[in-house]
Amino acid sequence: MRLKESFCHTRQVLAANNIDNTPLEGELLLRQTLKINRVQFYQNLEQQITPKQQDILQELLERRLKGEPAAYISGYREFYGLDFYVNNDVLIPRPETEHLVDETLSLAQKQRMPLIADIGTGCGIIAISLALNLPRAKIYATDISAPALKIARFNCYKHGVVDRIKPLNGDLLEPLPEPVDFIVSNLPYVRQSELDTRGFEPVLALDGGVDGLEKIRRLCHQVNGKLLPGGYLLLEIGQGQREAVTTLLDSLFPTADIDVKPDLIGIDRIVSMVLPQ
Ligand SMILES: C[S@@+](CC[C@H](N)C(=O)[O-])C[C@H]1O[C@@H](n2cnc3c(N)ncnc32)[C@H](O)[C@@H]1O
Repeated sequence: MRLKESFCHTRQVLAANNIDNTPLEGELLLRQTLKINRVQFYQNLEQQITPKQQDILQELLERRLKGEPAAYISGYREFYGLDFYVNNDVLIPRPETEHLVDETLSLAQKQRMPLIADIGTGCGIIAISLALNLPRAKIYATDISAPALKIARFNCYKHGVVDRIKPLNGDLLEPLPEPVDFIVSNLPYVRQSELDTRGFEPVLALDGGVDGLEKIRRLCHQVNGKLLPGGYLLLEIGQGQREAVTTLLDSLFPTADIDVKPDLIGIDRIVSMVLPQ
């Protein structure tokens, strides 16, 4: 069988099992089977697939049909135009988090040498995307999960930013050795009642406590003394959490300016706060 026929067959099987975006999903499974990149995939559609490769594809397809996300099977996910290694120790990056990077970049680009903390870095997407777009920035990347930090470190090496990103293991802002210009964070914000504990992603990366805001709330209470005067706090939040987060920040920092930006589908997604100078 040729690659293009196998691609077509794989897509049919995925579609028959109600899996969306079969062109991308099928491509990922075949690329993982053949260990080739996207360009090689489309250049070699006429290539023959060996019986051994068909067996490997079948195994990967079965994992996908049992619900394992394509990102864990292929071992990578694209974010901000970059490839990141992922496994089931880390959350699979979500496109809405690109807004958090955009927003931080638009503010940090105005500073000469911004000092940034990415709290709950996971596989390192926020810290690394910022480092690559802010060549003079120094970044702390924290996570309470040591296995997640190991993946972040791997991605820092992969993207050549290991000298500017310092991984720190610990709870929220506690490991920060000095106050920073920016605290940027996509903490877990799923309500416990909405958690899918049978899923493949780490519960630690999703579980936001009873109302989803337990960790965000604790972080807000730790900001004092960790953010420099004129410094920014930028948080990704979930649907319906705007009011609770802005009210809390307003009560903790009555002289700060607070703003909220929506994502592409109009959900309030990024809360930003700037302290007075
Ligand atoms: C929603 S994931 C975000 C991962 C990554 N920043 C992203 O945007 O894809 C939340 C991350 O916060 C970490 N985390 C959870 N509780 C934490 C805590 N108390 N202190 C630091 N990190 C925490 C989790 O291990 C996980 O990596």
